[in-house]
Amino acid sequence: MIFLGVSLGSHYSDYPAEDSVHALKERIKELSCLYRIAELSSSLELDTKEILQAVVDLIPAAMQYPEITSVRLKVENRCFTTPEFRQSANFFGATLQTQFSTKGSLEVFYPESSDYELLPEEFKLIETIAQQIALILERKSIQEYNAKMQEQLRHADRLATIGQLSAGIAHEINEPLSAILGFSELVVSEYKLSPEAKQDMQKIINATLHAREVVRKLMLFSRQVPPKTVPVDLNKLIEDGFYFLENRCEKQGIQVVRKLKPDLPKVVADPSQMHQVLVNLSVNAMQAMPKGGLITISTHTSGKNVEIKIADTGLGMDETVLQKIFIPFFTTKDIDQGTGLGLSVVHGIISAHNAKIKVSSRPGAGTVFTIIMKAYHEQES
Ligand SMILES: Nc1ncnc2c1ncn2[C@@H]1O[C@H](COP(=O)(O)OP(=O)(O)OP(=O)(O)O)[C@@H](O)[C@H]1O
Ligand SMILES: [Mg+2]
Repeated sequence: MIFLGVSLGSHYSDYPAEDSVHALKERIKELSCLYRIAELSSSLELDTKEILQAVVDLIPAAMQYPEITSVRLKVENRCFTTPEFRQSANFFGATLQTQFSTKGSLEVFYPESSDYELLPEEFKLIETIAQQIALILERKSIQEYNAKMQEQLRHADRLATIGQLSAGIAHEINEPLSAILGFSELVVSEYKLSPEAKQDMQKIINATLHAREVVRKLMLFSRQVPPKTVPVDLNKLIEDGFYFLENRCEKQGIQVVRKLKPDLPKVVADPSQMHQVLVNLSVNAMQAMPKGGLITISTHTSGKNVEIKIADTGLGMDETVLQKIFIPFFTTKDIDQGTGLGLSVVHGIISAHNAKIKVSSRPGAGTVFTIIMKAYHEQES
């Protein structure tokens, strides 16, 4: 779509013969501008912002009076202008029309004092450039979508490899751990030990229990513990499972708010594994709010799905941390505060349930984890 706030002059072709050289020069300016834009649009080194700014900077030189031309490109909520941009009521422009929506507009302004007459060719040029920009935007968004998909695939692949590896290790370690634990307990109960020896044996038992806990988490992550599923009322699971946390939260100055949707459809799940998911997410939320804050746990329906959201008002995470949170042993906490397995376990359980987990977070702005599960209907059984 085109819009005008300036009077339209005659075509170059209507010029007297002596002006034909001038007309030709104008045409060359326009063509070289379009050529440069075509070059920019296929550039691999520049990001979208840089390309759009470069396009805006090219436009004045293609106009009859570059020195008094101001250009403004609006794309969604971003704005690109020529240096020393001046807005005026003397303007014309075109909208950026992609296949599905209008992405913004391209406008050219002249000082109100100038008696400039816009040429139809210039007008056409701006319309063409607006179309080119729309194409650039469309292509870039497809490229970004593809890159995101590939990154997600790589991530899933990496997790699957780590999963296989840890499943193998967990299995191998489980056996000797059981032997150490069994025989240590036997020694304590069967032999008369000095108090010091008894204390040392207890240390062995505690360390083995800790190692066994790590192995258990690794097995949960690598889906070695298949879920025992039944229809589960998530609201009830939250009601029953959260009272113990509330107590701990209160001591830390954290308020817990529950917003549970009435008549929430059930989901097919392993209640104890889902409980583990809620605990791991809530403990993380608590640990992210050392100075207190708010945890909101809510349930929702969305189409045929049921969603649980756990939101905190804590420290939040930056992009680099967010990329790694589901990788086993990744932690930003002190050694005695975290093993880095909490979210790996969550990921393993959620994948075993054919469900999804999403996270959105910004440093200083808190974090929201969303679990999306298929709703269960009685007739499905
Ligand atoms: N709600 C949250 N707010 C801020 N950061 C978080 C949150 N949840 C997770 N994280 C980040 O993700 C990392 C990994 O979390 P994960 O639960 O897997 O391990 P952990 O909490 O460090 O240790 P563990 O859960 O094994 O005790 C954390 O160390 C933390 O940096
Ligand atoms: Mg954790």
